[in-house]
Amino acid sequence: MKERSIEKTEALSLKHEKFFSKKALEMKASETRELLKLVENSNVISLAGGMPAPETFPVDIIGEITQEVIKNHAAQALQYGTTNGFTPLRNAIVEWMKKKYSIQISKDNLIITTGSQQALDLIGRVFINPGDVVIAEAPTYLSALQAFEYYKPEFVQIPLDDEGIRIDLLEEKLKELKSQGKSVKFVYTISIFQNPAGVTMSEKRRKEILELASQYDFIIIEDNPYGELRYSGSPIRPIKSWDDDGRVLYLGTLSKVLAPGFRIGWIAGDPRFINKLEIAKQSVDLCTSTFNQVIAWKYIEGGYLDKQIPKIVEFYKPRRDAMLKALEDFMPEGVKWTKPEGGMFIWVTAPEGIDTKLMFEKAVAKGVAYVPGEAFYAHREVKNAMRLNFTYVSEEKIREGISRLAETIKEEIKKSKI
Ligand SMILES: Cc1ncc(COP(=O)(O)O)c(C=O)c1O
Repeated sequence: MKERSIEKTEALSLKHEKFFSKKALEMKASETRELLKLVENSNVISLAGGMPAPETFPVDIIGEITQEVIKNHAAQALQYGTTNGFTPLRNAIVEWMKKKYSIQISKDNLIITTGSQQALDLIGRVFINPGDVVIAEAPTYLSALQAFEYYKPEFVQIPLDDEGIRIDLLEEKLKELKSQGKSVKFVYTISIFQNPAGVTMSEKRRKEILELASQYDFIIIEDNPYGELRYSGSPIRPIKSWDDDGRVLYLGTLSKVLAPGFRIGWIAGDPRFINKLEIAKQSVDLCTSTFNQVIAWKYIEGGYLDKQIPKIVEFYKPRRDAMLKALEDFMPEGVKWTKPEGGMFIWVTAPEGIDTKLMFEKAVAKGVAYVPGEAFYAHREVKNAMRLNFTYVSEEKIREGISRLAETIKEEIKKSKI
């Protein structure tokens, strides 16, 4: 048989679409990710990504631990592991959650996942029937929407303010849904330094949402990738720490405090939920990389994580401050933004009538990129907002990027007045 180049194979008469499942046919590339491809390899200052700064990765220590693992634990680290995760790592995370967050659990309450992104998909598999009501914050993490979307829920989003999800509106919605005979499966919340809005749910609302969960019989998915990245204000306990009822499934990850390349996350919750999630994970990947889990265990056990967190905080704080200052200095009247005490993002709202998706190419032409806000809404209803990241580029670039963005917005405002 003659060899064919890849280009030629694509030109064959094979009707590839007919082989796809209905679900695969429904999968769409995210418009936002397509837009962001415009920015790759250009000189544009990207405030769009959600990535940690590589300068914060503890490269030397990871190198040392890796060598030690190969020398002393190779048989275990290079082998398959159990689906629920490497027991010493689970124990180390249990201890960490007790110490840090007053969350009292045992290793039976914990499953290691391949990043918390996998946790979101497993939650979709285990909990969502088509048409089930899933409530999220408005706006919410766009890849959570994508993960849940596959299982066809009915999405309801409840607006946020500076204290997190609006409990009054949530309660109103719960009553309305009940009167329509619909029940809610779960509420998904990023309760600390929210992605994309940067806000934190107040302690009062944390307790109120737990009360509503028990009154209306739903569970809470509390996703907390950013909680350790606090630059100001006082620590706050996760909702999970007040959960006497087993209604909260807590999602953690090492992505923002160690490195996302490890792909290590976890779900903590009632063992009856954890067991089902474990069965769901078996067919997905058998287990999370044992090699990475052993290194992560050594890293936590060696006390390195405790030392690493203040270093990251020290690195990011000036970047958060630089972005807030630049917004203050450059943005025209009518533009509003959140003032996060931690995390990686600021949410900017332009005046009504400005469509940040339509404005995107103009901003890129001026040399700055952001994520248009509509992607953070299942029904794409908000057009005039955007998410900005302050962890990835330097303070100088942040200032220059915000200045370019402010110019773009000013031009849009001027145009809309003509
Ligand atoms: C709110 C939220 N949840 C989950 C994730 C996924 O994180 P990972 O899979 O790297 O643990 C992210 C990543 O940015 C996130 O912002």
